[in-house]
Amino acid sequence: MHPQSMVFCRRFTPLFSCERQMTQRMIEITSPVFIPEERLAADPGLTRLFGAERPLALEIGCGIGDFLIQMASRRPELNFLATDIYNKGCLKTCRKVEAAGLDNVRVVRLEARHLLEHHLSPGSLAAVFINCPDPWPKKRHRRRRLVNADFLALLRQFMAPGGELYFSSDFEDYTADVAAALATLPLWHNCHPLPYLPALESYPISKYMRRFLDQGETIHFLHWRLEPAAAEGELTAEPTVLPAWGRAVHG
Ligand SMILES: C[S@@+](CC[C@H](N)C(=O)[O-])C[C@H]1O[C@@H](n2cnc3c(N)ncnc32)[C@H](O)[C@@H]1O
Repeated sequence: MHPQSMVFCRRFTPLFSCERQMTQRMIEITSPVFIPEERLAADPGLTRLFGAERPLALEIGCGIGDFLIQMASRRPELNFLATDIYNKGCLKTCRKVEAAGLDNVRVVRLEARHLLEHHLSPGSLAAVFINCPDPWPKKRHRRRRLVNADFLALLRQFMAPGGELYFSSDFEDYTADVAAALATLPLWHNCHPLPYLPALESYPISKYMRRFLDQGETIHFLHWRLEPAAAEGELTAEPTVLPAWGRAVHG
């Protein structure tokens, strides 16, 4: 199991997905909203996944889908692809999407970097949402955090010119590190004057976030945009494929 597949809740005992898998059987997801990897592989460009062609947004680590439902309802002009490695979370997300009757959402259960490298086209993402990724709070574990300079360099190759990145974390140092890493990458532009914000106007709040907010904690938000200049050949035609997780990528 890759270390990134552990699932954390702050101030609660970390719950490891391998433990979950030992105690819980994998539940097959038969929802029409759920896209097994074989279907993704058979549809390069993802043109047949959604009911209609619209710019593509990606949510990484959608959890149980409560942010996704709110955001996809508010932004019907976008198609939303949501991924999480958590089987039961994907199942709950699919059920919510079906109950809400949203035709602009599809769910996959794939590790985020695998999804990017193997199934998405460079320059295809109009928006990316990453909310409260596993924080790896211990200093010696911080290198395991998903969103770091290498990940951002990889992600950047898949962003459309003008594409928007939203990030939030209940850990201020995580948010500050992501902001600092973005600032070193060319063409990324902070949409706000402050390095990070305690709130983003009309940004949906997940149950996970709500729990911290209700305890008087702060969620820290980022909203950055990739400058449209990226259209003029700045982005590489082919993504740099990471030979192993965590290796450096120079996008
Ligand atoms: C702390 S939870 C937050 C869930 C949700 N974003 C929210 O705000 O309610 C982090 C989620 O990211 C997922 N996750 C962790 N690493 C991942 C990865 N490398 N690729 C995809 N999902 C991942 C976990 O399974 C978990 O559901």
